[in-house]
Amino acid sequence: MGGRLANVVAIITGAGRGIGRATAELFAREGARVVLCSRTSRELRAALSTIKAAGGEAAARVTDIGSPRQARALVRFAVRRYGRLDLLINNAGILGPRVPISDYPIREWQRVLRINLSGTFYMSREAARVMAAQGHGCIITLSSSVGRAGRAGWGAYAVSKFGVEGLMQVLADELRSVGVYAMTFNPGATRTAMRAEAYPREDRDRLRHPPLSARALLQLATNASPAISGNAFDLENLP
Ligand SMILES: NC(=O)c1ccc[n+]([C@@H]2O[C@H](COP(=O)([O-])OP(=O)(O)OC[C@H]3O[C@@H](n4cnc5c(N)ncnc54)[C@H](OP(=O)(O)O)[C@@H]3O)[C@@H](O)[C@H]2O)c1
Repeated sequence: MGGRLANVVAIITGAGRGIGRATAELFAREGARVVLCSRTSRELRAALSTIKAAGGEAAARVTDIGSPRQARALVRFAVRRYGRLDLLINNAGILGPRVPISDYPIREWQRVLRINLSGTFYMSREAARVMAAQGHGCIITLSSSVGRAGRAGWGAYAVSKFGVEGLMQVLADELRSVGVYAMTFNPGATRTAMRAEAYPREDRDRLRHPPLSARALLQLATNASPAISGNAFDLENLP
């Protein structure tokens, strides 16, 4: 299949719904061989069938990125199946409770950081090893406006996004010289299950649609270069 991602092998985490699913579908249409994951199988199976029905090449594996063993197995699965790994989209994440820090339940704090921050680290660590050995690759992590300026009531979610901003900067600095790039992308308010959980009463018709984020991620992935590695992007400053 031709397209802007012909011959590219991409892992997209959290691809069962929302931004991850739209990204997997677009990347497959652009010719990438895509590997999808999420913790549960129903939405993942539906995403996989849609991609295959449209003629795309895709594989899926139920994976909790918050488990180092499962994150490693996912990267190995992708490399075994398609021979290499060019692109990792760290999209999977959870919201957690919207309460002030002084009331934030400790178990929820640990759960959000385990998935959003440690899970992104586990995936990026495994992918970086493969990509550095290949001498090329790109890692893009979904961030948030609350991961760039703290805001009341966003708790562990915000802190986890600050963490992934730092993680991508460190990776970018370590791997730029070997042709591996890392950056973050903030999609802004987007019509997904996570957004509905955060703002149950808002008018959903005013929100951006996931395919807009998917197109932005495609633009970032195809324009990745040493000059922009380590940067933080949103829809307004795409390269
Ligand atoms: N929507 C927005 O307005 C918005 C704004 C700023 C940033 N973002 C970021 O964009 C990304 C995608 O958000 P979204 O709104 O599309 O969320 P979403 O609709 O809730 O989808 C999240 C996806 O991640 C999967 N997932 C969650 N935890 C996982 C884990 N531990 N391992 C593997 N998969 C996991 C979910 O499936 P399972 O539940 O089956 O695992 C689901 O497929 C997130 O990183 C989010 O923080 C979103």
